[in-house]
Amino acid sequence: MKALVVYYSRTGTTKALADTLAKELGADMEEIVDLKNRRGIFGFLSAGYSAYRKSLTNIKPPEKDPSAYDTVLLGTPIWASNITPALRTYIVQKKDALKQKKVAFFMTYSGTGMEKAMKSLTDLYGALPAASLEIVKGIEAGKFKEKLDAFMAKLKS
Ligand SMILES: Cc1cc2nc3c(=O)[nH]c(=O)nc-3n(C[C@H](O)[C@H](O)[C@H](O)COP(=O)(O)O)c2cc1C
Repeated sequence: MKALVVYYSRTGTTKALADTLAKELGADMEEIVDLKNRRGIFGFLSAGYSAYRKSLTNIKPPEKDPSAYDTVLLGTPIWASNITPALRTYIVQKKDALKQKKVAFFMTYSGTGMEKAMKSLTDLYGALPAASLEIVKGIEAGKFKEKLDAFMAKLKS
Protein backbone atom coordinates (compact mmCIF):
# COMPACT_ATOMS: atom_id res chain seq x y z
CA MET A 1 0.00 0.00 0.00
CA LYS A 2 1.46 3.37 -1.00
CA ALA A 3 0.08 5.74 1.62
CA LEU A 4 0.26 9.46 2.38
CA VAL A 5 -0.51 10.81 5.85
CA VAL A 6 -1.75 14.39 5.64
CA TYR A 7 -2.35 16.28 8.87
CA TYR A 8 -2.76 19.65 10.55
CA SER A 9 -1.64 20.09 14.14
CA ARG A 10 -1.50 23.28 16.22
CA THR A 11 0.11 21.91 19.38
CA GLY A 12 1.58 18.54 18.40
CA THR A 13 -1.04 15.98 19.48
CA THR A 14 -2.33 15.21 16.00
CA LYS A 15 1.25 15.30 14.72
CA ALA A 16 2.21 12.56 17.22
CA LEU A 17 -0.68 10.41 15.99
CA ALA A 18 0.21 11.14 12.36
CA ASP A 19 3.83 10.07 13.06
CA THR A 20 2.62 6.78 14.56
CA LEU A 21 0.31 6.06 11.63
CA ALA A 22 2.99 6.89 9.06
CA LYS A 23 5.46 4.61 10.83
CA GLU A 24 2.95 1.73 10.93
CA LEU A 25 2.20 2.13 7.22
CA GLY A 26 5.64 3.13 5.97
CA ALA A 27 3.84 6.18 4.59
CA ASP A 28 4.99 9.59 3.38
CA MET A 29 3.82 12.61 5.35
CA GLU A 30 2.48 16.04 4.48
CA GLU A 31 2.00 18.62 7.20
CA ILE A 32 -0.59 21.24 6.32
CA VAL A 33 0.72 24.65 7.36
CA ASP A 34 -1.92 27.26 8.17
CA LEU A 35 -0.54 30.67 7.20
CA LYS A 36 -2.90 32.42 9.61
CA ASN A 37 -1.50 33.00 13.09
CA ARG A 38 -3.31 30.65 15.49
CA ARG A 39 -1.20 31.51 18.53
CA GLY A 40 -2.20 33.37 21.70
CA ILE A 41 -5.66 34.08 23.01
CA PHE A 42 -6.83 35.90 19.87
CA GLY A 43 -5.46 33.10 17.67
CA PHE A 44 -7.33 30.58 19.82
CA LEU A 45 -10.61 32.49 19.72
CA SER A 46 -10.49 33.15 15.99
CA ALA A 47 -9.48 29.51 15.40
CA GLY A 48 -12.61 28.26 17.15
CA TYR A 49 -14.81 30.79 15.38
CA SER A 50 -13.35 30.00 11.94
CA ALA A 51 -13.85 26.26 12.49
CA TYR A 52 -17.41 26.84 13.68
CA ARG A 53 -18.13 28.96 10.58
CA LYS A 54 -16.54 26.27 8.36
CA SER A 55 -14.22 28.99 7.00
CA LEU A 56 -11.32 28.33 4.70
CA THR A 57 -7.82 29.70 5.34
CA ASN A 58 -4.57 30.20 3.45
CA ILE A 59 -2.30 27.18 3.59
CA LYS A 60 1.26 26.72 2.40
CA PRO A 61 1.10 24.99 -1.01
CA PRO A 62 1.26 21.22 -0.31
CA GLU A 63 4.44 19.52 -1.51
CA LYS A 64 3.14 16.02 -2.19
CA ASP A 65 0.64 15.05 -4.88
CA PRO A 66 -2.09 12.80 -3.41
CA SER A 67 -2.72 11.41 -6.92
CA ALA A 68 0.58 9.54 -6.62
CA TYR A 69 -0.72 7.41 -3.69
CA ASP A 70 -3.38 4.73 -3.42
CA THR A 71 -4.33 5.54 0.19
CA VAL A 72 -4.54 8.97 1.85
CA LEU A 73 -5.06 9.51 5.58
CA LEU A 74 -6.43 12.90 6.60
CA GLY A 75 -5.93 14.10 10.18
CA THR A 76 -6.99 17.08 12.27
CA PRO A 77 -7.70 18.21 15.81
CA ILE A 78 -11.34 18.98 16.55
CA TRP A 79 -12.05 22.68 16.96
CA ALA A 80 -15.51 23.86 18.09
CA SER A 81 -16.97 20.44 17.23
CA ASN A 82 -15.67 20.79 13.71
CA ILE A 83 -12.60 20.18 11.60
CA THR A 84 -9.89 22.80 11.29
CA PRO A 85 -9.94 25.40 8.52
CA ALA A 86 -6.51 24.08 7.42
CA LEU A 87 -7.74 20.54 6.71
CA ARG A 88 -10.96 21.91 5.19
CA THR A 89 -8.90 24.03 2.80
CA TYR A 90 -6.65 21.10 1.86
CA ILE A 91 -9.66 18.90 1.04
CA VAL A 92 -11.30 21.64 -1.03
CA GLN A 93 -8.04 22.13 -2.97
CA LYS A 94 -7.40 18.42 -3.52
CA LYS A 95 -10.96 17.12 -3.76
CA ASP A 96 -10.69 15.67 -7.27
CA ALA A 97 -7.49 13.78 -6.50
CA LEU A 98 -8.84 12.53 -3.16
CA LYS A 99 -12.04 11.22 -4.75
CA GLN A 100 -10.08 8.55 -6.62
CA LYS A 101 -8.32 7.28 -3.47
CA LYS A 102 -8.94 5.06 -0.50
CA VAL A 103 -9.28 7.69 2.23
CA ALA A 104 -9.19 7.37 6.03
CA PHE A 105 -9.78 10.04 8.69
CA PHE A 106 -8.12 10.54 12.06
CA MET A 107 -8.83 13.13 14.74
CA THR A 108 -7.63 14.12 18.20
CA TYR A 109 -9.80 16.02 20.65
CA SER A 110 -10.49 16.65 24.34
CA GLY A 111 -13.75 14.77 24.58
CA THR A 112 -16.62 16.63 22.93
CA GLY A 113 -18.00 17.16 19.45
CA MET A 114 -16.59 14.11 17.71
CA GLU A 115 -19.78 12.99 15.94
CA LYS A 116 -20.44 16.49 14.66
CA ALA A 117 -16.86 16.92 13.45
CA MET A 118 -16.91 13.52 11.75
CA LYS A 119 -20.16 14.36 9.98
CA SER A 120 -18.73 17.66 8.83
CA LEU A 121 -15.65 15.92 7.44
CA THR A 122 -17.68 13.19 5.74
CA ASP A 123 -20.01 15.79 4.20
CA LEU A 124 -17.04 17.78 2.93
CA TYR A 125 -15.30 14.75 1.46
CA GLY A 126 -18.60 13.52 0.04
CA ALA A 127 -18.31 9.87 1.09
CA LEU A 128 -17.67 7.67 4.09
CA PRO A 129 -13.98 6.94 4.81
CA ALA A 130 -12.54 3.42 4.54
CA ALA A 131 -11.63 3.73 8.23
CA SER A 132 -11.60 6.36 10.94
CA LEU A 133 -9.70 6.81 14.19
CA GLU A 134 -10.70 9.26 16.92
CA ILE A 135 -8.44 9.68 19.93
CA VAL A 136 -9.28 11.64 23.07
CA LYS A 137 -6.04 13.10 24.39
CA GLY A 138 -4.57 11.41 27.43
CA ILE A 139 -7.51 9.59 28.97
CA GLU A 140 -7.71 7.05 26.17
CA ALA A 141 -4.04 6.11 26.36
CA GLY A 142 -4.91 2.66 27.71
CA LYS A 143 -7.15 1.92 24.73
CA PHE A 144 -4.81 3.32 22.14
CA LYS A 145 -3.24 0.08 20.89
CA GLU A 146 -6.63 -1.62 20.56
CA LYS A 147 -8.07 1.29 18.58
CA LEU A 148 -4.99 1.61 16.40
CA ASP A 149 -5.03 -2.11 15.53
CA ALA A 150 -8.73 -1.99 14.62
CA PHE A 151 -8.13 1.07 12.42
CA MET A 152 -5.20 -0.56 10.64
CA ALA A 153 -7.12 -3.80 10.05
CA LYS A 154 -10.02 -1.87 8.50
CA LEU A 155 -7.74 0.25 6.37
CA LYS A 156 -5.87 -2.75 5.02
CA SER A 157 -8.99 -4.85 4.32
C1 LIG B 1 -9.74 26.58 19.00
C2 LIG B 1 -9.86 25.22 19.64
C3 LIG B 1 -11.11 24.62 19.74
C4 LIG B 1 -11.24 23.33 20.29
N1 LIG B 1 -12.49 22.75 20.33
C5 LIG B 1 -12.61 21.48 20.83
C6 LIG B 1 -13.89 20.82 20.82
O1 LIG B 1 -14.91 21.32 20.35
N2 LIG B 1 -13.96 19.56 21.37
C7 LIG B 1 -12.86 18.94 21.91
O2 LIG B 1 -13.02 17.83 22.40
N3 LIG B 1 -11.63 19.53 21.90
C8 LIG B 1 -11.48 20.77 21.37
N4 LIG B 1 -10.24 21.38 21.32
C9 LIG B 1 -9.07 20.62 21.83
C10 LIG B 1 -8.27 19.97 20.71
O3 LIG B 1 -9.11 19.26 19.79
C11 LIG B 1 -7.26 18.98 21.27
O4 LIG B 1 -6.49 19.58 22.24
C12 LIG B 1 -6.40 18.42 20.14
O5 LIG B 1 -5.88 17.15 20.51
C13 LIG B 1 -5.24 19.36 19.79
O6 LIG B 1 -4.53 18.83 18.70
P1 LIG B 1 -3.12 19.44 18.21
O7 LIG B 1 -2.18 19.35 19.39
O8 LIG B 1 -2.72 18.53 17.11
O9 LIG B 1 -3.34 20.85 17.79
C14 LIG B 1 -10.09 22.64 20.78
C15 LIG B 1 -8.83 23.26 20.67
C16 LIG B 1 -8.71 24.51 20.10
C17 LIG B 1 -7.34 25.15 19.97
